[in-house]
Amino acid sequence: MGGGATGIGHATAVHLVRAGYHVVITGRNEAVLREAAARLGQGAGQAVDYLVSDVAEPDAAAASVSEVEQRHGGLDVLVLNAGGPPPGRILEVSDEQWQSSFGLLLLGPLRMARQALPGMAARGFGRVVFVTSTAVRQPQPDLAASVVLRSAVTAAAKLLSLDFAAHGVTVNCVAPGPTATERRRQILTSRAQATGRSYDDVDAQDAASVPARRAGHPEEIGAAVAFLVSADAGYVNGTVLTVDGGRTETI
Ligand SMILES: NC(=O)c1ccc[n+]([C@@H]2O[C@H](COP(=O)([O-])OP(=O)(O)OC[C@H]3O[C@@H](n4cnc5c(N)ncnc54)[C@H](OP(=O)(O)O)[C@@H]3O)[C@@H](O)[C@H]2O)c1
Repeated sequence: MGGGATGIGHATAVHLVRAGYHVVITGRNEAVLREAAARLGQGAGQAVDYLVSDVAEPDAAAASVSEVEQRHGGLDVLVLNAGGPPPGRILEVSDEQWQSSFGLLLLGPLRMARQALPGMAARGFGRVVFVTSTAVRQPQPDLAASVVLRSAVTAAAKLLSLDFAAHGVTVNCVAPGPTATERRRQILTSRAQATGRSYDDVDAQDAASVPARRAGHPEEIGAAVAFLVSADAGYVNGTVLTVDGGRTETI
């Protein structure tokens, strides 16, 4: 469970622990992970494991999957979730930001999927979910790196879903809309600074753009991931599940 100590990743881990999965949460901050794992394990009747790993370092990302397989004898569910790239319009993203965001969003997760999928196929069951963004369905000009790279991630997920479907393995994306986490707070802060408006003003405008008139709760995104990784979702493959309060303007 990528980014399992906070935000959408943590909310997803709560669902998975509740459903009885043996969960390993990952992230870069050991102290935060240790505390989150202990909290998740309380009352669950089972220990929740954690692993320090930086997804933006592709070698380390792939090694983290091997480590989980060795510790726990295999990996049936891989949720590819971490932080988002820095905000910025298309010509404002520096070369260095493109390179680091490429590692974080595409190459790191792809290396993890490459490591995990053969074992899943051999065991005849597997679930991979990429947490992306509604930016792949509806461009957001001030999140250019997210729009461009997550479109590539969505294509990669589709291709993976074709290659492993006959082996009981599904690969899907969950695309969140505005969700009340640290990431959203950072994006709104950046938007307020760029426009000279107050944080509360951009927050209210963002919420008003959602037909539900609010940001999502991380638990609502986690519930969608939990459905896709369940045994019941075995015929849902190669798709994007949008969870955005109805904001995306497509049919
Ligand atoms: N919140 C929204 O409104 C929203 C909307 C659309 C899409 N999304 C996307 O959904 C994903 C999760 O969002 P969120 O809101 O939960 O984000 P968040 O609040 O920023 O949490 C991100 C989590 O990922 C971990 N992480 C960040 N960079 C990492 C790295 N390089 N390697 C490993 N772990 C890393 C963080 O822990 P450490 O810092 O300790 O590593 C943290 O636990 C992001 O990709 C985000 O862009 C969010």
